Amino acid sequence: MSEEKTGSMEMRSLVIVYSYHHNNTEKIAHEFSEVLHAEVKSPEQVTMEELQEYDLIGFGAGIDSGRHYKPLLDLVDRLPSVHKKAGFIFSTSAMQGEDKVKKDHSLLREKLESKGYKIVGEFSCKGFNTNSFLKYIGGMNKGRPNRDDLKNAQAFAQSLKGS
Ligand SMILES: Cc1cc2nc3c(=O)[nH]c(=O)nc-3n(C[C@H](O)[C@H](O)[C@H](O)COP(=O)(O)O)c2cc1C
Repeated sequence: MSEEKTGSMEMRSLVIVYSYHHNNTEKIAHEFSEVLHAEVKSPEQVTMEELQEYDLIGFGAGIDSGRHYKPLLDLVDRLPSVHKKAGFIFSTSAMQGEDKVKKDHSLLREKLESKGYKIVGEFSCKGFNTNSFLKYIGGMNKGRPNRDDLKNAQAFAQSLKGS
């Protein structure tokens, strides 16, 4: 972060999210947005030029087949290179667990790091899932993200302030 952006000036943040199944990840993005005073945009709303205006950028989506949704990954492939810009990764998914989330996030992390982003945090929580046969049995993780998930998302965003 350059000197004039430190001190009393707030970090300029953007949250990019692709969310469609039940808008689970979008709910998380909105919690981040409130805490960080950040705009939320979908990959198709983002322009390459505007990205240089931000000090911190969040990248998130639901998980499909063990990786973030393709429109988000495709956007990251098109990003210009940066020098140690702060970024964070988030997701919602059916199944959680430290190793599983790490694996789910690994492709996006690799792509962002190869563009020069410094990953300053990762967040994930369960999301309601009615994929495939699950729709016949009422789905799994009903009600997720729940209030606790949203609170955790807020705390995570708070921890990013000043990163
Ligand atoms: C086509 C499809 C594939 C999915 N694959 C996975 C997966 O590999 N692992 C997982 O944990 N959850 C998987 N899920 C569950 C979603 O990641 C989960 O429901 C997520 O919260 C959806 O996010 P969204 O509402 O923001 O789109 C899948 C869901 C769909 C619809």
